[in-house]
Amino acid sequence: MPPLPTVLITGASSGIGATYAKRFARRGHDLVLVARDKARLEALAARLRAECKVAVDVLPADLTKSDDLSVIESHLRDDARIGILINNAGVPQSKGFLEQTAESIESLIALNTTALTRLAAAVAPRFVRSGTGAIVNIGSVVSFAPEFGMSIYGASKAFVLFLSQGLNVELAPKGVYVQAVLPAATRTEIWKKGGMDVNTLPEVMEVEELVDAALVGFDRRELVTIPPLHVAERWDALDDARQGLMSDLRQAHAAERYQRQT
Ligand SMILES: NC(=O)c1ccc[n+]([C@@H]2O[C@H](COP(=O)([O-])OP(=O)(O)OC[C@H]3O[C@@H](n4cnc5c(N)ncnc54)[C@H](OP(=O)(O)O)[C@@H]3O)[C@@H](O)[C@H]2O)c1
Repeated sequence: MPPLPTVLITGASSGIGATYAKRFARRGHDLVLVARDKARLEALAARLRAECKVAVDVLPADLTKSDDLSVIESHLRDDARIGILINNAGVPQSKGFLEQTAESIESLIALNTTALTRLAAAVAPRFVRSGTGAIVNIGSVVSFAPEFGMSIYGASKAFVLFLSQGLNVELAPKGVYVQAVLPAATRTEIWKKGGMDVNTLPEVMEVEELVDAALVGFDRRELVTIPPLHVAERWDALDDARQGLMSDLRQAHAAERYQRQT
């Protein structure tokens, strides 16, 4: 049997990323853990080496900084043991659109979209050459809900969903699996970082349940995994409606309702 692929996980120092690390270590995969907090990564790595007897490398990096991002890109390009990328690191949006600063907008977009895209782009050519590999992108159900008033965060997660769907079209025929995972409210530190008390929410999923469900979707090679969606047909209907809309576009002329001045 060939060795299990090594899993590189961004945002592995806490929450969903740390839980993915524990789950993949338990399955016997070696790991590469990426986040800014070196001490937390080292502590998790030591625990997983001892408990699961797997090799764990720690790569501290601030993925909003181009130099740090380049180092992680190089690992993804060059380390042929890495066969799964968990593109998980992300930040929330604190406060509404009118309260944002240039810096808060830039850092959210840099992490939630640019870093995620650059890391996928770094690893994809190698995965395509080998005809195997998996890219998991963590989105959010907020990408369906402009009503939530988290416009920049939601837009960044809509980007993640679209990118995943597009990469699936381009890469699946070449043997590469792409999964978008869309959690709803999950009990992690992200809420505190966004200035919100998770305990005020009417319903919250525990992080272990979220990641275990995401891994069921992963093992089934599902393209879009939405653990909190209890009626799976809702997603199918949304996707059907999207494709129906596409089939009613006519490029040569504007629709009749735009051909009269009223
Ligand atoms: N929890 C939820 O309710 C929920 C719902 C939907 C989607 N999500 C998504 O799930 C993903 C994981 O979030 P989480 O809930 O697990 O939150 P979390 O516990 O706050 O984890 C976020 C991770 O990202 C890392 N990170 C933050 N800024 C970084 C940077 N500049 N460079 C590198 N790493 C950075 C953090 O580590 P360091 O601080 O050590 O860098 C941490 O490991 C995010 O993409 C989030 O948008 C979460």
